Amino acid sequence: MSTTFTIDTATSRATSTPAPMKRLTVPSIRARKGGEPLVMLTAYTVRTAQLLDPHCDMLLVGDSLGQVVYGLPSTVPVTLEMMAAHGAAVVRGSYHAVVVVDMPFGSYEASPEKAFESAAYLLKQTGAAAVKLEGGQAMAPTVKFLSERGIPVMGHVGLTPQAVNTLGGYGARGRSKAEADKIVADAGAVAEAGAFAIVIEGVVEPIAIAITHAVACPTIGIGASAQCDGQVLVAEDMLGLFDRTARFVKKFDDLAGRISAAVETYAADVRSRAFPGAEQIYAPKD
Ligand code: KIV
Repeated sequence: MSTTFTIDTATSRATSTPAPMKRLTVPSIRARKGGEPLVMLTAYTVRTAQLLDPHCDMLLVGDSLGQVVYGLPSTVPVTLEMMAAHGAAVVRGSYHAVVVVDMPFGSYEASPEKAFESAAYLLKQTGAAAVKLEGGQAMAPTVKFLSERGIPVMGHVGLTPQAVNTLGGYGARGRSKAEADKIVADAGAVAEAGAFAIVIEGVVEPIAIAITHAVACPTIGIGASAQCDGQVLVAEDMLGLFDRTARFVKKFDDLAGRISAAVETYAADVRSRAFPGAEQIYAPKD
């Protein structure tokens, strides 16, 4: 059974999502190749989705939620069920952006058939429009298999965090000519197989530029190049929720500092009995 409920506006805490309007579509994203840059951010929860949605072309329910939401050491332990639950929340909180859900490690690599089963489960459970999977030439047959069967696929090449145990860390990729050539070939294979867009993560800039010129679908950079067809960041990173972030993150706010200051004020108000005040308590009826 699908978990794609709509928001219950009778619930006092639920901010209603504007009435459904025409959502952007996967073909409309693909058609933006070489045009106005595509804006994508991660979202994992309904309220965050509501706040980001009007400004974004795509919302990515990234498996980075393993680290950002659950404090896991990497994305490797993330499960299909976690992605389905958060994906459904993000679809409930959005009405404009194309929602893309990450396929977690272990849910797609074994065979195209296994990938289809996992991807179909994610789309049914969430109402999202597309999935993203990591990998290049080895994953091209899977990208083709899914794309030809009604599942739009976003590729992800360069630094692929699910392969951290093979790569040995999260450093930028493509510093040697052999590695650079492989990343360009990976992107070409995934594009040729039918990916509607490709995330290029953590590569030296000329690689991102070469791929962007070479492939027919939009490229979405993260630690790549401003010349990509779009950009993605983890929302919590760009909002300044974490002290330590990758070099490629630009902090557009200091949410950590603002949350700390607000909670410090709250704690002081509780301790001095300034909170709750007259406006926050229920007076008896006369
Ligand atoms: O999981 C994620 O958030 C991602 C982006 C960083 C591209 O894959």
